[in-house]
Amino acid sequence: MRKRLKWGTFLENCPVWSRFSFFDMPTLDWIGKKAVVNHHREVPYHLLKCDKELSVGDPGSGNLLVQGDNLLALKALLPYYAGRVKCIYIDPPYNTGNENWVYNDAANSPEIRKWLGKVVGAEAEDLSRHDKWLCMMYPRLMILREFLSEDGAIIVSIDDNENATLHLMMDEIFGAKNFVANVIWQKKYAVANDHKTIAPMHDYLLVYRRSEKWKRRLFPRTEEKDRLYKHKDAQGIFRPDNYTCNKTADERPNLFYPITNPNTGEEIYPKRTRVWAYSKEEHARHIRDNMIYWGKDGKGKVPSIKRYKHLLRHGEGIVPQTLWMHDFAGHTDTAKKEIRDILDDSRVFDFITPKPTLLISRVLQLASDSTSLILDSFAGSGSTAHAVLAQNKADGSTRHFILIEMEESICQTVTAQRIARAIEGYKDIPGLGGGFRFCRLGSTVFDETGNIRAGVTFNELAAHVYFAETGEPIPKRTNGKTPLLGIHNGKAIYLLYNGILGDRSFGGGNVLTNPVLKMLPPHNGPRIIFGEGSRLGTARLKREGIIFKQIPYGIKVT
Ligand SMILES: C[S@@+](CC[C@H](N)C(=O)[O-])C[C@H]1O[C@@H](n2cnc3c(N)ncnc32)[C@H](O)[C@@H]1O
Repeated sequence: MRKRLKWGTFLENCPVWSRFSFFDMPTLDWIGKKAVVNHHREVPYHLLKCDKELSVGDPGSGNLLVQGDNLLALKALLPYYAGRVKCIYIDPPYNTGNENWVYNDAANSPEIRKWLGKVVGAEAEDLSRHDKWLCMMYPRLMILREFLSEDGAIIVSIDDNENATLHLMMDEIFGAKNFVANVIWQKKYAVANDHKTIAPMHDYLLVYRRSEKWKRRLFPRTEEKDRLYKHKDAQGIFRPDNYTCNKTADERPNLFYPITNPNTGEEIYPKRTRVWAYSKEEHARHIRDNMIYWGKDGKGKVPSIKRYKHLLRHGEGIVPQTLWMHDFAGHTDTAKKEIRDILDDSRVFDFITPKPTLLISRVLQLASDSTSLILDSFAGSGSTAHAVLAQNKADGSTRHFILIEMEESICQTVTAQRIARAIEGYKDIPGLGGGFRFCRLGSTVFDETGNIRAGVTFNELAAHVYFAETGEPIPKRTNGKTPLLGIHNGKAIYLLYNGILGDRSFGGGNVLTNPVLKMLPPHNGPRIIFGEGSRLGTARLKREGIIFKQIPYGIKVT
């Protein structure tokens, strides 16, 4: 018994297992789960190939649009961006079951059906709509988690088709303790009068943080809120606020007492069914500190408490809440209008239900700061990129985006076009500036036999080797001109590949020999060297503090 307790405590405290909620939470099971829980590890690394023709504006702007299945695209991006993304916003297919919307219902799209057949095997035939959706989402969320920085958060749009299952699945993947909120977004403002049961008016935004290091941000104050602060006295600008609260005199007899207006001498009691919000002692303090407002002429019959602007508890911002009404975060009609204005093409709506830019701006205000990297792996019409560009313009910041969209036609004619127009301007709307690179998935880094595929460049392999060895993205300063990729935890990591040292050395410098060793940038500490072979003996390597790893075998392939 004692032993089991210890083992349980160990697992709860262990960084990997503590994510899972075996101990106090129910977990979700479905057909096909076993086949997908570790699938993200088996997904091969692909190369990304950029297309200059479809890229727009400043190519060095740090923004990226990738066309391809997000499972492969995310894996391809991982060596570059693991742990670097502050805010992931995704709007996956809601799994509505509406078969006409093949692309909106990705669990039934031809690509996903093919993928499920491959990954889940024969069992895929028996999968229900929900099983398929869960199988599709699980490995993608597992990889997305790896992108988040410790102070990052993921926000997922969903509706009641999968809200409950997604919540449980995210508890399992991100840890129930990292659940932040399930925000309700009022997506519609007009009720569908022909609805047969209860007309749905809202979607959800499930918010999970990566760890307790995440800090939510405040929403900017609105002019409407600021306008309430229109009074002024010697202590500053204030707005009058209610002096009563919603309890009866029977419930709170100590809060039911007369207050005298000093200007009229009138004794005043709270209205029936209410009491004062403050005790006699607090009221006395308010009188002493001149905190009570009796109206413009001072002769009012109702006291108010003065709320001073400079004393606002959270300074400039508004504390986020779990209810986002349409006037705060937009609605689906605004989203459609935005697309119509930009693209003049309503066929888009046959395939995707866009989100309003304002909704995603709210997400950015809540969960990103001025230099954050934002990732959206179900890009659709590109509203996330548009919101990032607009938010940068609004607050003079430099957020960057990475978007992924699977459908070639959507990606090229909708996503890329919309972002391009947002950047360059359209009709009489001025451009927001910036640019993005358009990329597609290339071949895998390794071929079927595990060898490095011909044509893989030094930089591509370097990013892969560094990430496989350290679990971290290659340091930015790596420029492809030196075999030293970076130093991680005191260990220097080198790659000898594609004649990085030129042909002065044996085998184009891909084999570790005495002369090659002399040419390597020095490091005072342990060294890990990846190369095609080594001519140095075990004793010599040990003396030099070198661990030699032969490529491709020494590189973790997935
Ligand atoms: C609900 S829409 C997103 C709408 C988007 N938020 C907007 O405002 O326009 C979902 C998008 O994800 C895309 N998608 C579905 N499965 C995908 C996958 N496996 N990889 C990449 N994109 C995918 C669909 O083609 C569709 O465009």
